[in-house]
Amino acid sequence: MSKAGIVLAAGQGTRMKSALPKVLHKIAGLPLLGHVVAALRGAGIERIVVVTAPSGDAVRAYAASLGCESVVQDRQLGTGHAAGAAQTALGNFAGTLVIVNGDMPLVTPDLIGECLKAQARTGLAMLAFQASDPAQYGRVLLTPDGFLNRIVEYKDASEPERGITLCNGGCYAADAQKFFRWTAALKNDNAQKEYYLTDVPNLARGEGVKCAVALADEVSVLGVNSRAELAEAESRFQARMRSRLLNDGVGMSAPDSVYFSYDTQVEADVEIEPFVVFGPGVRLRSGARIRSHSHLEGAPNLPVEVASGAIIGPFARLRPGAKIGEGAHIGNFVEIKNAVIGAGAKANHLTYLGDAHVGAGANIGAGTITCNYDGFTKALTEIGAGAFIGSDTALVAPVKVGAGAITAAGSVITKDVAPDALAIARGALTEKPGWARAFRERREKETK
Ligand code: UD1
Ligand code: MG
Repeated sequence: MSKAGIVLAAGQGTRMKSALPKVLHKIAGLPLLGHVVAALRGAGIERIVVVTAPSGDAVRAYAASLGCESVVQDRQLGTGHAAGAAQTALGNFAGTLVIVNGDMPLVTPDLIGECLKAQARTGLAMLAFQASDPAQYGRVLLTPDGFLNRIVEYKDASEPERGITLCNGGCYAADAQKFFRWTAALKNDNAQKEYYLTDVPNLARGEGVKCAVALADEVSVLGVNSRAELAEAESRFQARMRSRLLNDGVGMSAPDSVYFSYDTQVEADVEIEPFVVFGPGVRLRSGARIRSHSHLEGAPNLPVEVASGAIIGPFARLRPGAKIGEGAHIGNFVEIKNAVIGAGAKANHLTYLGDAHVGAGANIGAGTITCNYDGFTKALTEIGAGAFIGSDTALVAPVKVGAGAITAAGSVITKDVAPDALAIARGALTEKPGWARAFRERREKETK
């Protein structure tokens, strides 16, 4: 049976109090919508239709970048109305639909699979969960034989109903043709005057179709409606990622202080010290060590890569395109951007290497700066293998320092330096014997 997904993403997200549409807020660097789409894809669902608001250009652009279709829900009249809007794209689709709220970034492919399995039993299914704090989730009432009796929205629930802890997880699976018939028949006679997706099971029952209930854990169906819930989802995502990586053999002595991006790739036997933060696009090879307080962040097509045996930090910053070779050392207050650092090279203190190639075994002295930008374009600095860049060298790019060459401390290098040469570019030292003492004596007399 072919499958398609509908992601509901047209809601205003008023509770976020933000100009940014709710589903574009990020968890571990990826918008909520991206997490939901990834889970659907992980469950084998390729065709995905995102329901958006008329003002949702940014959401549609993001959906397109993920290879999803989108439709417009002309007015935000509720989740049932939103799901019905997908009919313009999927009206002729004859398979099974998975309908997911766009605000549940922790949903997993496995859970979507469970929902589909339950759907295969009756033709309609939903995810429910036992909530430790049911808050404003819809309350789920079961029949004695374990099928759904009905879902009561928090705002419509009586006091005893609000005491129910089994809640609606916001993910459903249904036969497509029937589903659109049901959404078209929804009514809005409720507290919010909305067309609730949660009333679909009632209409199904009228046709003799029972709604099966698959149980989810409460973390995986966490719905993000406010900033506090966004922060909660972030913390749950981080916890999941940390325990997965620990399981995979990554060493972390204080995992709770390490923050990952959704796509951080870490091989076994990487050591990560406390208080390290990863932005998107970072890959760490086995045997690399990331010391405390370092910040590593790549960009699309400009990943950060750290090879085996390399040591980064403490207090280092790797920016997009930093490629650190085997056994290289990048020390405190060193920033690397779009630069390849050869095997065994060292830049241990207070340095900026941007748009550079550093050869194997080169030594970059403290305070070295690549002057890579003239306010208009970026230029390349090439440092040959085994070169020794003296402390406080300014390398005015484009410029090359040949293999094995030395630059004297404090030099401003504006011309290429030949291999094995010494380049000195600084004022000559003059010494005036006794001048300091004479100066002091004069000033003491003058100021008495
Ligand atoms: C919904 C469920 C609730 C469930 C909870 C799980 C309904 C009526 N209620 O409540 O039972 O426990 O999710 O997280 O479904 N949306 C649209 N168009 C609209 C309204 C909403 O696309 O007109 C989208 C939103 O962008 C959001 C999703 O639907 O991604 C859910 O809407 P939201 O307002 O978050 O519903 P909840 O109050 O969380
Ligand atoms: Mg919600």
